Parts: sequence; C-alpha cells; structure tokens
Amino acid sequence: MGNKMESKKLNLWYGQKWALKDITLDIPENKITALIGPSGCGKSTFIRCLNRMNDLIDKVRIEGEVLYDGHNIYSRDTDVVELRKRIGMVFQKPNPFPMSIYDNVAYGPRIHGVKSVDSLVERSLKDAALWEEVSDRMDAPAMGLSGGQQQRLCIARALAMRPDVILFDEPCSALDPISTSKIEGLMEQLKARYTQVIVTHNMQQAARVSDLTAYFLLGEMIEFGPTKEIFENPQQKSTEDYITGRFG
Ligand SMILES: Nc1ncnc2c1ncn2[C@@H]1O[C@H](COP(=O)(O)OP(=O)(O)O)[C@@H](O)[C@H]1O
Ligand SMILES: [Mg+2]
Repeated sequence: MGNKMESKKLNLWYGQKWALKDITLDIPENKITALIGPSGCGKSTFIRCLNRMNDLIDKVRIEGEVLYDGHNIYSRDTDVVELRKRIGMVFQKPNPFPMSIYDNVAYGPRIHGVKSVDSLVERSLKDAALWEEVSDRMDAPAMGLSGGQQQRLCIARALAMRPDVILFDEPCSALDPISTSKIEGLMEQLKARYTQVIVTHNMQQAARVSDLTAYFLLGEMIEFGPTKEIFENPQQKSTEDYITGRFG
C-alpha cells in the first residue's frame, strides 16, 4: 500500500512568521497518522495545508509540495473545490449548520448537484455511527444534539461528500470521555475505506488510535514513525521529553 499524500519540503509563512519548516512527511493510505506536539508548534497549520484551507488566510506564503495521489495540490491546475470534496475536514468545535439533521448531511451533495440524497444521507449517518440515535428525528434541528452527536454529524457530513482522506483537528477536545471513545472507535472502523490524519494534544489518544505519529516542535517535524516506536523507543531526546511529560 502506497502513500495517499506526501508533503515535500513544505514551508509556510504567516507574514514574517515562519510557521512550517521543511516538512517532509508521508501519509500512507488506509492508516491513521497522528500529529502531536505542544501548542503553537504548527499542527493545525500543517493539517490545513493538506486540503489548502490556508488559502483562505491572509498573508500566507507556501513553498514546497503536497502530493495527493502523486499530484501536487499546489500546482496551478488544481481544482480546489474538487480537492476539498476529496479531502474532508472535521474541526475541534462541532460546527453543524443551523438546520435539520437531515439537511446537514444532504447540504454538500445537494449543492454539488446530487438529486436524490436519501440513501446517501442514511449511509453517511450509519458510517458515522449516528443513525440509530437520530433516524426517528431527522427533521429535528442539529443544534439540539449533544456535543458528541454533533461531532459525529460533522463526520457524517464529511462522509457524504465521498472523500478518501479525512482530516481531524483535535476532534475530541470539546467532548467528554464517552463521546471521545465513540469517535475513536469510529475512526478505527473508517480505516478500511479512508486515509485519516488526526491532530491531537492528547498523547494517550495518539497512542490508542494512530498507526503513525509525527512529533512537531516550533514548526519543525522532529520525528516520524510507527506510533509504537515513537512512544516506546523515540530516537530524539526532545520527543522523549515531550511524550514523558517533561515539557509541553
Ligand atoms: N492566521 C494566523 N496568522 C498568523 N499566525 C498564525 C496564524 N495561525 C497560526 N499562527 C501561528 O503559527 C504558529 C503555529 O500555529 P498552529 O498551527 O495553530 O499550532 P498548533 O495547531 O500546533 O497549536 C503559532 O505560532 C501561531 O501563533
Ligand atoms: Mg491547533
């Protein structure tokens, strides 16, 4: 199995601030890759580069490449709308639209011209492990769901676009432990069909869910490898200091 995505000597500046320094990282297909490191080290910046979400931010300059199925997404011929359909994103704070549960999931496919969305909505909610909890109240407002349900709804909304990569930026930070473990179980189930990348400041979570872990510090990627190796036998002193809680 190959790499779904690869970043190659990726650099990013916010104005004068150099936020990503020469990041070269492979993201293998059908695996979960975790990004860890102290606050402000560039995890969100990096994950946003993977579907060009940073394009939306003022004064950003990017050098280097991000390959998706071997194609540089920063090349001029990239269709960014299509790219973001293929590479979905789930954020820290659940952000359902102020509309019904059904319409939240149907929204994306509809604006992209899909006519009958019933079965797609049902399948997406099933795949997001939410169907059983909401199938009898699809017309109810999404805002009435619990935080954990809202986050699974956001995952269903991403799945309805038929992506093949899903990016999660601290998806459980606002959730209780039970909701967190549901999301982690869900990620495990999604592995067979999707490539996933998760930013987490929770090292236990990285150790539980991911196959590979990258440790970031001050805009640099210090170490990257199989999660077990990173946690049990880190090669860099700074990785060891971080995972053993000596700083960060
Ligand atoms: N929109 C922005 N404008 C300017 N600086 C930013 C912006 N977003 C993030 N930064 C800076 O870039 C660095 C990395 O931030 P971020 O990627 O959010 O880190 P993390 O997700 O690891 O906490 C930080 O120093 C942060 O202050
Ligand atoms: Mg962040």
